[in-house]
Amino acid sequence: MTDNRNYLGHRNGIPAGRRGECGDYLLYADRLYKTYPDGEVRALNGVSLGVHQGEYVAITGPSGCGKSTLLNMLGVLDVPDNGEIYFRGQPLTTRRDLDNFRARQIGFVFQSFFLIPTLTARENVQVPMFEGPRLSARERAKKADDLLALVGMSQRAHHRPMKLSVGERQRVAIARALANDPVLLLADEPTGNLDSENADKVLDLFTALQKDRNLALIVVTHSDEVAERADRVVKMRDGRVVADSGADIIPTSDSAATS
Ligand SMILES: Nc1ncnc2c1ncn2[C@@H]1O[C@H](COP(=O)(O)OP(=O)(O)OP(=O)(O)O)[C@@H](O)[C@H]1O
Ligand SMILES: [Mg+2]
Repeated sequence: MTDNRNYLGHRNGIPAGRRGECGDYLLYADRLYKTYPDGEVRALNGVSLGVHQGEYVAITGPSGCGKSTLLNMLGVLDVPDNGEIYFRGQPLTTRRDLDNFRARQIGFVFQSFFLIPTLTARENVQVPMFEGPRLSARERAKKADDLLALVGMSQRAHHRPMKLSVGERQRVAIARALANDPVLLLADEPTGNLDSENADKVLDLFTALQKDRNLALIVVTHSDEVAERADRVVKMRDGRVVADSGADIIPTSDSAATS
């Protein structure tokens, strides 16, 4: 087995030899490792992945292979044990304003929506705006209305989540993810709870967002249909990337060491 230590722990910037590569990507994950403290399982075992602005990437693989763990790292909701994530060439793990950065640049869509039950759709969409650029109450409401219109939910703006269908809740969650005009949208099984009609609506929305807003989309999915709609499919197994239909496959630490 290769000793990875030479490649890791470079927390003061992009490691020599990788600067050019990182700079071309919106997001560049460099050899991520993660073992959860209460288990022997290495959830990520040297994953590298570069994603361009406006690119639509599907991440697939068997249950337990590390997809959600990777997505959480890419969205800096969790930190790797080793490795680094670069956003426009800048390392993220040492950034001090991470909460602010995340709120303004990244939108999340989770499988179980996490809408606040006591708030209406229109209010739920506004929640992230309190961490984004300062807006007046009127501007926030207007923006929420625009986003609800974008996801086809204007008619339900004043309903609370309990009074919405599952597909409608997911569309509100997508509108909320767009509240601060992110450049990167991360979605974990966004159609997992939806019937095929609602799943199609969400997929159409993703395609439109990619085209109209030049959003980078990274979508974790078990669904072949979702994967087919993406520009690129990244397959994982046992904490590693085992296939990548994208043009620029980044060598893992093992293959880099032997090349
Ligand atoms: N918080 C945690 N604590 C301990 N182990 C965890 C934790 N989260 C995930 N794991 C383990 O890490 C591995 C990767 O989990 P992960 O959730 O990333 O898989 P996944 O590919 O998203 O699976 P699924 O398709 O079922 O959602 C699994 O073996 C899982 O049991
Ligand atoms: Mg998962």
